[in-house]
Amino acid sequence: MKGDLHLACLVGLAAKALGASSFAGSELYYAAGLNTTQQEYLFSNLQDSGIKVLRVWLEADSTLKGSEPGVWNDEVLNRLDDVMVTAQRYGIKLWISIHSYNTLLGNGDFYGAWYGTSDFYTNNDAISYFKNRIAHVLSHANPNNGKTWAESPEYIFGFEAQNEADQPNTHPDTTVTWQCTMAQALKTALRDSPSILVGTGGGGWVDSSLPTGLFSCAALDVLAIHAYGAADLTTTKLGPRVTQAQAAGKKLILQEWGGADGGVLDAAARDANPRSWADAANQEGIPWMYWQDYEIGVGGVDWETFQEVAKGTGGYAAAFDFLPWLDGLE
Ligand SMILES: *[C@@H]1O[C@H](CO)[C@@H](O)[C@H](O)[C@H]1NC(C)=O
Repeated sequence: MKGDLHLACLVGLAAKALGASSFAGSELYYAAGLNTTQQEYLFSNLQDSGIKVLRVWLEADSTLKGSEPGVWNDEVLNRLDDVMVTAQRYGIKLWISIHSYNTLLGNGDFYGAWYGTSDFYTNNDAISYFKNRIAHVLSHANPNNGKTWAESPEYIFGFEAQNEADQPNTHPDTTVTWQCTMAQALKTALRDSPSILVGTGGGGWVDSSLPTGLFSCAALDVLAIHAYGAADLTTTKLGPRVTQAQAAGKKLILQEWGGADGGVLDAAARDANPRSWADAANQEGIPWMYWQDYEIGVGGVDWETFQEVAKGTGGYAAAFDFLPWLDGLE
């Protein structure tokens, strides 16, 4: 199939007609903070790179922080209402992360301050407050289309409950239970509509992203992988995970990866890494979203490499069918 698809591209046929092609996405966790000029700049450049999905977080500098349960600051949601519309004009949907492990670590809100990185996943009150957060976010009405976020697949590709829930892989069983509970809460808020995907927010690396229990959680459509090192971004490492996911009826996304390695690498390595690491994901048919770090920002020194790699991804067959969720974007 992969061979056919490459051939199809060479002779100029639409790859889509032959089966699902892979796709590339990007991330800008603080997209809600961009003004309209910056949004136009970002999305026009992402569209130029063939990007289909942008992952954003509901927290960053200004957040849906809530200093206590039930007190909402919707500024980020209100800002994202407009970001979604701009994104749509450039053929890009949003993947929305509802919370982050990093905020638990940093006591960035009451979840972190009251429950920390451990009790957060097991305390009954914390679980119930977090379900309320999910319900609050998904019932947020966007004045631009007069619908709630749960009813807006034209803007939203997928939701995840938490970025890197088990980032350091310290208690996979606990977080698997929590992730499945929250995935079910997302499905409930979506009224079981399949038009927006429900996924995880990955872990610190491939294995911590994919504990076995996630593969049997019915409410999860997508299992996200985060990977930042040469050892994780190979076909040898990723290939068996594709087989495992296909057997379980789950989709995989390489949701976070980066080639600049904190900006410490020299220019040649920063150019070579994204090429070979994206190639590993592409060979295995795993769609990917690049973590926009350091030199990969629009117009940065590695931007052209990123554009080339992202554009090339559509030429590979995907191991998972995301077409119904990408539909209408081309
Ligand atoms: C948007 O933000 C940039 C960077 O801070 C600034 O230079 C620009 O003037 C702002 N544009 C608008 C329309 O506010």
